[in-house]
Amino acid sequence: MQISGRHALVTGASSGIGEALAVELAARGAKVTVAARRVEKLENVVEAIRKAGGEANAIRADLALPGSGLELARRVREDFGHVDMLVNNAGVSGGVSQFLEKSPTEIRECIEVNFAQPMALTHELMPGMVERGFGCLVSIATASVFFPTNLASVYIATKRALVSIDEVLRIELAGSGVHVLTVFPGPVDTPMLTKLMATDERAKAVLGPFKGTTDKLAKLTMRAIERERDSVVYPAQFGLGRWVSPIMGTLMARLSAPLGLNR
Ligand SMILES: NC(=O)c1ccc[n+]([C@@H]2O[C@H](COP(=O)([O-])OP(=O)(O)OC[C@H]3O[C@@H](n4cnc5c(N)ncnc54)[C@H](OP(=O)(O)O)[C@@H]3O)[C@@H](O)[C@H]2O)c1
Repeated sequence: MQISGRHALVTGASSGIGEALAVELAARGAKVTVAARRVEKLENVVEAIRKAGGEANAIRADLALPGSGLELARRVREDFGHVDMLVNNAGVSGGVSQFLEKSPTEIRECIEVNFAQPMALTHELMPGMVERGFGCLVSIATASVFFPTNLASVYIATKRALVSIDEVLRIELAGSGVHVLTVFPGPVDTPMLTKLMATDERAKAVLGPFKGTTDKLAKLTMRAIERERDSVVYPAQFGLGRWVSPIMGTLMARLSAPLGLNR
């Protein structure tokens, strides 16, 4: 799909991957609306885009709140016009802890931000894309869906739910002109990864050497949008996950106690 002249809504664009995606979309001629909680950071992104000659606006949204996806979809349409590209990027880790140690609040927040509100946004904004005969949904999932590990149960579950919706939408929307792209980032240098690595030594040791950049991921995502690809996996080594994924759960469960991976 051609990016120039389209209107894109990017959630979680106040930092990291979302910010890089917003900047790249604008550089390719899209009008971009950025959404997140931290207004000051959003305004910085808008300013940087405008300085570079692009068009951007910001809307504050807290996607941990039930109903916030619907409200954001309506506001963006009213204030800035119909949305051609929805980038469901906002995400939280759900806490780096075993499932039984997570608080109900952490679990609820993770489900709302990573899955429930993205689904609501899609449900509200996609009918317009279908009506117009073109549009694009980009879901920022994670390569962790291929590698179930401890400490990330709810995070992985919410991202797998996103991936599942995308798979079915691709079937239901075939021939509609609406394209669905799922992005599977491995470790990418952002505040979220920095925080994870500061909390989890094992993650730091395993993921650190493979760490990629937001800039590269954003460029690969733009290419996948333009070529209407189904998925992007970055860094590329994590593409191996697609093949080992069917046995990873069993393997990890068997090795967990002997190797002390269950702590
Ligand atoms: N970095 C990685 O290694 C990696 C790997 C796999 C997948 N991902 C995924 O990539 C996406 C972006 O993460 P990132 O790494 O770029 O982390 P990040 O820099 O921490 O960005 C997370 C974004 O989500 C927004 N957000 C969080 N809670 C929100 C809420 N309640 N309402 C609205 N927005 C909210 C944050 O904005 P505010 O705080 O301003 O609200 C921020 O803009 C996430 O979905 C993440 O799961 C990242």
